[in-house]
Amino acid sequence: MVDLDNVLAEAARLVTPSPEEASMVNDIANFMVSLLNRELGRVGVSAQASVQGSVAHGTWLPGDRDIDIFIVFPRDERYVKLIEGGEVLRIITNILDSNGIGWRVNYAQHPYVVARYRGFDVDIVPCIEMRMGERPLTAADRTPLHTEFLRGRLRGLENDVRLLKLFMKSIGVYGAEIKVQGFSGYLAELLVVNYGGFINVVKAASSWIPYRVRINMGGSCETRHRAPLVITDPVDPCRNVAAAVSLRSMSVFIAASRAFLRRPSIAFFTSPKTPKPLLTAPVLVVFGKYPQGVVEDVVWGQLRSIASSLWNIVRRAGFKPMDIDVYASENGYMALAMMVEAIELPPYELHVGPPVWSDDSEAFLEKYVLRGDVAGPFIANGRWLVVRGRAIRHVSDVVLNGLKSLGRGVVRDSLLSGTMVIVKDEDSLSKIPKELMDFLYRFLNKRPHWLAYQ
Ligand code: CTP
Ligand code: MG
Repeated sequence: MVDLDNVLAEAARLVTPSPEEASMVNDIANFMVSLLNRELGRVGVSAQASVQGSVAHGTWLPGDRDIDIFIVFPRDERYVKLIEGGEVLRIITNILDSNGIGWRVNYAQHPYVVARYRGFDVDIVPCIEMRMGERPLTAADRTPLHTEFLRGRLRGLENDVRLLKLFMKSIGVYGAEIKVQGFSGYLAELLVVNYGGFINVVKAASSWIPYRVRINMGGSCETRHRAPLVITDPVDPCRNVAAAVSLRSMSVFIAASRAFLRRPSIAFFTSPKTPKPLLTAPVLVVFGKYPQGVVEDVVWGQLRSIASSLWNIVRRAGFKPMDIDVYASENGYMALAMMVEAIELPPYELHVGPPVWSDDSEAFLEKYVLRGDVAGPFIANGRWLVVRGRAIRHVSDVVLNGLKSLGRGVVRDSLLSGTMVIVKDEDSLSKIPKELMDFLYRFLNKRPHWLAYQ
């Protein structure tokens, strides 16, 4: 396959870091590790810092400005308390402060420090020592074991992992965060180890069926996972490394794998700007300011749950929603877009009443029999019915009422005090802020960019 070889060679150039970038990443990682170990020793803390994640595994992507450093504390409840109580965080930030290094605190399962050093974000994550087969005491404890497991097994396959990560990024399924609900870096690494290389992963995925793929990476566990994709963690067999992968992400990966094998193209490794969209069915867009200081996972979680509630509310009101999606960017906007068959319902509706033999029928008749604005009541199929005017005809009113009926929350409140636009022509497009254009273009187009090369 000349095509495939050419494409893979071109993609390999995109994912291979230059020697200069590689030595800069390693220098910074090593510098931070020795700084932390020296200063931890000085204040008498018996913990060990080491490089972890994709920098330790040699699987980071060029231009990626993230370095993971974990500080492993002895396995002792006392240290769990110190980590959870924030004392460890304070030790780390004191060390950074006294060395003139800027930092901020981020929140995952537990808080960690992000140091800003020479243009890089260095994640400094405290955890507790864990041996193979032991139970993790904090959510971060497995990571050093992951590095141990991959050492040796991944050697020679680093570029295959990089190709897989870029492929997944390009098709929009890389990352386990709620925003993406896709494949984590560690999952990409395990897939490459399991199947033996990038192209073998893609070949395997092209015949995957969601809920039927179960890969056991060693060990055994009583609990049965029920998820579209199950890959057990070799260092903790009860954990599904692919637990975050949604049916949607898995399906996108399967479809893209099939399309790539049929017609290999560099498009599967790039993220082009979305072309100006074709305007088809109308789209309702609600947007508001991103709630300052709220972590992305929380915002995306709330946005997704609001979207699914609104979908049902709109459908129950008689509309036909066809697609829905959400967007959020820290320091920018949040948005929700819904495509509907029609934004306005006809002026009259058939209102179905009770069966004529039921005791509820009298109340129904009392309500409608003297009204001058309805046709009926009349009988069909054993029931009383009327044709009456619709109370709410416009989808914007339904969405507005729907938002008001949802429980209070930072995301709902911001959308409610935001703006609503119906996009149905060029004119209405101009009412959308520039920041949201790419999101909206993608939502209007729908077709993934990698399908354009079929
Ligand atoms: N990790 C994990 N599961 C996740 C996220 C992270 O197990 N959903 C652990 C893994 O041990 C991983 C480490 O945390 O090696 C670092 O995570 P992260 O930086 O998110 O991923 P990387 O593998 O470093 O990939 P990337 O190149 O995207 O940084
Ligand atoms: Mg990383």
